[in-house]
Amino acid sequence: MPDVKPNLPEEDQLFRLLRQLDLAPDASQRATAAALGISLGRLNAWLRAATEAGFIKVSERAGPDKRQRFAYALTSRGAAEKVRLTDRFLARKFAEYDALHAELTGTTSGFVPLKHRNRLVQNNLAPIPELYVSYDSAQKLKVEAADLVSHDLTPRQICDLELLMNGGFYPLKGFLSQADYDGVVESMRLADGTLWPMPITLDVSEEFADSIELGQDIALRDQEGVILATMTVTDRWAPDKAREAEKVFGADDDAHPAVNYLHNTAGKIYLGGPVTGIQQPVHYDFRGSRDTPNELRAYFRKLGWRKVVAFQTRNPLHRAHQELTFRAAREAQANLLIHPVVGMTKPGDVDHFTRVRCYEAVLDKYPASTTTMSLLNLAMRMAGPREAVWHGLIRKNHGCTHFIVGRDHAGPGKNSAGEDFYGPYDAQDLFREHQDEIGIEMVDFKHMVYVQERAQYEAMDEIKDKDDVTILNISGTELRRRLQEGLEIPDWFSFPEVVSELRRTRPPRSQQGFTVFFTGFSGSGKSTIANALMVKLMEMGGRPVTLLDGDIVRKNLSSELGFSKEHRDLNIRRIGYVASEITKNGGIAICAPIAPYAATRRAVREEIEQYGAFVEVHVATSIEECERRDRKGLYKLAREGKIKEFTGISDPYDVPENPELSVETENVDVDNCAHQVILKLESMGLIAAQ
Ligand code: PPS
Repeated sequence: MPDVKPNLPEEDQLFRLLRQLDLAPDASQRATAAALGISLGRLNAWLRAATEAGFIKVSERAGPDKRQRFAYALTSRGAAEKVRLTDRFLARKFAEYDALHAELTGTTSGFVPLKHRNRLVQNNLAPIPELYVSYDSAQKLKVEAADLVSHDLTPRQICDLELLMNGGFYPLKGFLSQADYDGVVESMRLADGTLWPMPITLDVSEEFADSIELGQDIALRDQEGVILATMTVTDRWAPDKAREAEKVFGADDDAHPAVNYLHNTAGKIYLGGPVTGIQQPVHYDFRGSRDTPNELRAYFRKLGWRKVVAFQTRNPLHRAHQELTFRAAREAQANLLIHPVVGMTKPGDVDHFTRVRCYEAVLDKYPASTTTMSLLNLAMRMAGPREAVWHGLIRKNHGCTHFIVGRDHAGPGKNSAGEDFYGPYDAQDLFREHQDEIGIEMVDFKHMVYVQERAQYEAMDEIKDKDDVTILNISGTELRRRLQEGLEIPDWFSFPEVVSELRRTRPPRSQQGFTVFFTGFSGSGKSTIANALMVKLMEMGGRPVTLLDGDIVRKNLSSELGFSKEHRDLNIRRIGYVASEITKNGGIAICAPIAPYAATRRAVREEIEQYGAFVEVHVATSIEECERRDRKGLYKLAREGKIKEFTGISDPYDVPENPELSVETENVDVDNCAHQVILKLESMGLIAAQ
């Protein structure tokens, strides 16, 4: 290389260089110099300086052509620099344009430097910056990133990363730095004053955090190990989670799903730093209905939709929703975007597969030219007011001009004292306060109810003759009850297609899977009663029945395990896992281990109750009676000390405190015990009455 002092070129030139290398990393030096309109000597000087600054990486390439001896690829630091320079470049261009506009017309154009841009309603149809490098650079970065320390992203982090990379979380450039985090937690603002209400943080374990240096690049991988992005770690800190809970979610109370996540799932340490996008997370479901902000903007542009009102939802749509979205669109004179969240919603919500099938059915009821639907892979936090502001910013980034905010928007339900976390209109109030800065206009949700006499939906606050008409409404809880019990869901409430989709996923309890979990001492009669119960259930038919008896499991699933606490827990968790899969798939699992520890039984209950009922049956035969029976001769050996850690003799048993049923075997025969279980299942609606 000729001897030119390796000063970094001017910002503009550096930007053009990085952009060119991103677009055509394999081009020859001559071609790159020609594209930039500079001499080879100057290009070499720039390349050397940019390499020293860590923005590009030079490698030798084999081949006869001496002029193509080196290949230049952007490093992740270079990619982040390019994003930064893009913003500065655009800001300057906007300012120049504005000055010219003022000179020619005497008025300003409304364009302002990028950093202030979100104070104004920005042109919703122009492309928004993303954090991805070009396809060619991504291929190179991916190879380079394979050598980096990796962080395996959690499902929530994958959702966050997707929206960071595709511009959904614009103006964020990565996971929050400590200064940005502090500002967001305290006052909903990034360190530079920009409005941003939600901490987007990369939480990791202490061990992982200790293993990296500040300034180091790490690879961010999905759960299958695919590298999605790299991140330059600029910040590492242990957050005050109680404070985050108080300030962001309004209370340090585990009844709030995001607070529970914060304390019990999220890692102890946060890492911050800019992200360089390599590829989008892969989705195999509903691919055609998922759009990035730029894809939606392009769609609106193509259809000439200048005003778009977005409807956020995590629930199936019923007639009331359709009516209110119609009204919102009419009021705003805008087109309508149904924008459901399919990332992570509130635990217990209808799964997104079912919901999307419901949305597709409802979409047919809207005039095709006015309405569209797109799926948003957002991980909700259920943060009420702050969440509404966040949702508004995200929708603005997706090219919308209006946003519907309802009563109790993104509400988390009740706190541990049984009260609402937020007031019903707190979200609307906070949104209104920041509306100009968010850059999207709020359409406040009307509480729509059905007026029977007029056979139509009306806004509750607009009904003048409330006392003279019959007002009908079905709450979410009531709907769930009706589905659960197979009761009628009236036509005025929902669409037949939606109801039948919901019924398919939530059949009445008598058609759902469930688990009967027997627990008790060895020799208490668990297996015998479990066998009798299995035969009775098989006689009834309808659902497949599987018996996971203690002895059978120990032979087939847990043959390597002994009877230490650790091994017993592992054994019970394995049983719990198999039973949860059976329950999820609509079968009946009957488990009959000793399961001596209450905490482990509770964990299994929680796992299974996600999918169906968990019926704990305590076979309450006393230890004296079990020892007297001693059918396997084990108690004798245990007393002689020949079997160690024997439950009830030399090992503990936590008596269940609140089992669904407790059966007494000393004066009652097996058939009767099994019948008691059947009666219990009937009373819980799990089997249809005989
Ligand atoms: S646990 O604690 O739930 O994992 O136990 P489980 O898998 O049900 O296995 C219990 C059966 O193993 C035999 N056995 C022992 N039980 C308790 N303690 C010790 N130390 C022990 N060693 C062997 C015993 O026969 C149990 O059978 P059941 O069917 O309960 O009578």
